[in-house]
Amino acid sequence: MTKQKVLVTGGAGYIGSHACVELLEAGFEVVVVDNLSNSKPESLARVQKITGKTLSFYQTDIRDHAALTDIFAKEAPDTVIHFAGLKAVGESCEQPLLYYHNNVYGTLVLVEVMTAANVKQLVFSSSATVYGESSSPQYSEHFPLGAINPYGRSKAMIEDILRDLSAADHKNQVQNPWKIALLRYFNPIGAHSSGLIGEDPNGIPNNLMPYIAQVAIGKLSQLSVFGDDYPTPDGTGIRDYIHVVDLVKGHLKAITALNGDKFKDGACNAYNLGAGRGYSVLEMVHAFERVTGKTINYKISPRRAGDLAECFANPELAWQELDWKVEKNLDDMVADTWHWQTLNPMGYV
Ligand code: NAD
Ligand code: UD1
Repeated sequence: MTKQKVLVTGGAGYIGSHACVELLEAGFEVVVVDNLSNSKPESLARVQKITGKTLSFYQTDIRDHAALTDIFAKEAPDTVIHFAGLKAVGESCEQPLLYYHNNVYGTLVLVEVMTAANVKQLVFSSSATVYGESSSPQYSEHFPLGAINPYGRSKAMIEDILRDLSAADHKNQVQNPWKIALLRYFNPIGAHSSGLIGEDPNGIPNNLMPYIAQVAIGKLSQLSVFGDDYPTPDGTGIRDYIHVVDLVKGHLKAITALNGDKFKDGACNAYNLGAGRGYSVLEMVHAFERVTGKTINYKISPRRAGDLAECFANPELAWQELDWKVEKNLDDMVADTWHWQTLNPMGYV
């Protein structure tokens, strides 16, 4: 098979930059389209440093139909991995239209351009936030959906659009049907083992792991643990943390699956990408202290609105159909986060 070319939207971001490394190392040609609204070009320079390989970069907004059409004409990719999107839950509640325009309309433009270019293989960054209330903390793909904020709803809407696209191709028995993997991420953390790329949040982090790392390095003074009265063993919230390198390897496995028998007649399937086990907030704090030798200053604060007590993946479908499982453990996630944080205390400057 000739070398496949993958167009990566949002490739300069946290997860996208790690995906670029794995794709280049696996021999794919890589084209990145990113408007740099939440990233810096330095991440792509570092990707090329890590791999010793080059990629093509277009600083373009995916909502720019004409520019995206030109890129598809020039690059003729085989597959698209679609990371581009805004992801801050709180901001999405303040500015819902921004989120629907960027995430939903952006995806509409992307799939229109892909259809016109007859490029119909897509791996989409969805999220565990698309799930609704459930009696079990371990989420399977067939569980009911029911996102509770505009960010989550933008992901759920995109999933619906992509399922409809695939169903229409099936109904019309088209020759080159859409092949789509919706990857529902649990809680990605960690960084590449080189320490050259990692998560570089703008301002004060919303998520637990970057917050702990910034307390450890002295940029923030104290972690607020949001609630210690949940019905969990230590009373703090439990999540399924997944190393970002394991996560992006799931995308390469998804590309293999899209090219295989399972998708040969076209399909749009959702897969959980998680470890299948959870850790509490205090377990994360203590793991960080153990691995780094730093003391994390924390206080117990009220619960954060919208938080669940416990949420972790049932990843069996991805094991079976994508031949994918996490390989890294909690210590790897903490050590790699800390390596990135200590080498880049101010992020990409
Ligand atoms: P990120 O913000 O680091 O990366 C997203 C990238 O997309 C950024 O480089 C940004 O500049 C770019 N972008 C945004 N809108 C764009 C547009 N209209 N045109 C072109 N580029 C655009 O975020 P991330 O953590 O790497 O997340 C990647 C994807 O995974 C997002 O879609 C996010 O919603 C999803 N996701 C992330 C998490 C997480 O915890 N990080 C969890 C579940 C799902
Ligand atoms: C959050 C988002 C979710 C998004 C995910 C990954 C909310 C409600 N949910 O999920 O939509 O897909 O990030 O980007 O924002 N915690 C603290 N103190 C902190 C930060 C977090 O105690 O300063 C706790 C939380 O209460 C939770 C756990 O740590 O129990 C993990 O929080 P976080 O990293 O924000 O992830 P999620 O809440 O799972």
